[in-house]
Parts: sequence; structure tokens; C-alpha cells
Amino acid sequence: MTYFVNDACIACKYTDCVDVCPVDCFYEGENMLVIHPDECIDCGVCEPECPADAIRADTEPGAETWVEFNRKYAERWPVITARKDPLEGAAARDGLAGKLHSLFSELPGTGA
Ligand code: SF4
Ligand code: F3S
Repeated sequence: MTYFVNDACIACKYTDCVDVCPVDCFYEGENMLVIHPDECIDCGVCEPECPADAIRADTEPGAETWVEFNRKYAERWPVITARKDPLEGAAARDGLAGKLHSLFSELPGTGA
């Protein structure tokens, strides 16, 4: 079992999740984070920390697609181990529908 990040993170990237992860398995894109499913130890402590409610367990319906999305970008993007400021305008984009198609960037973040 693993947790994953979904599109609610896109263009918000609050990064509260990073501070609590005991195994540093978050990876940073330009405007969202993902979790490496092979590194996540399923502790669940990050899930309630996300203000955007973007972190879910893989037991929910439709999780498989998101887990593979997280794996794909975790293998391309740098690890992030410390909290940063949210993206500018995060609060205004929190909860918007369809962010994967309208706002997602495949570019890596700066990590660390
Ligand atoms: Fe890290 Fe635990 Fe969240 Fe997995 S469930 S990403 S190990 S804090
Ligand atoms: Fe994204 Fe939530 Fe973490 S918005 S960066 S998953 S705290």
C-alpha cells in the first residue's frame, strides 16, 4: 500500500506534507509534488497535513492511475525534504477542478 498526491496539489504546492514524511519520499515538480510509491512506508501522517486535501491512500477507487502518475514523475523530479513557501496564488487555485489538464507542468522543481 502507498499514498499518492493527486491534482489538487497542482499550482498550490503547500509542502506541509514534506516536513512530516519520515522517509523523504516526496519529489518536486515545478508546480506539484508526488510520492514515490516504492519508498512510501504507508504511515499516513502526511495525509491530514495537506491543506488542499491532495494526499490519498491507494485503497480509494481510481487510485491506480494516480499511483503510476506519482511513480513516473518521482523517477524524473528531484527529492524535496524541507518545506517551502506555497506557490503564489495557491489559495485562489485551491479546489479548482480540472487542474491536471489546465495547469500541470512536467518540468522539475528545484528540490532539496
Ligand atoms: Fe511519507 Fe508516510 Fe506520507 Fe508515505 S504516508 S509519503 S511515508 S508521510
Ligand atoms: Fe501538495 Fe498538499 Fe503537499 S498541496 S505539496 S500535497 S501539502
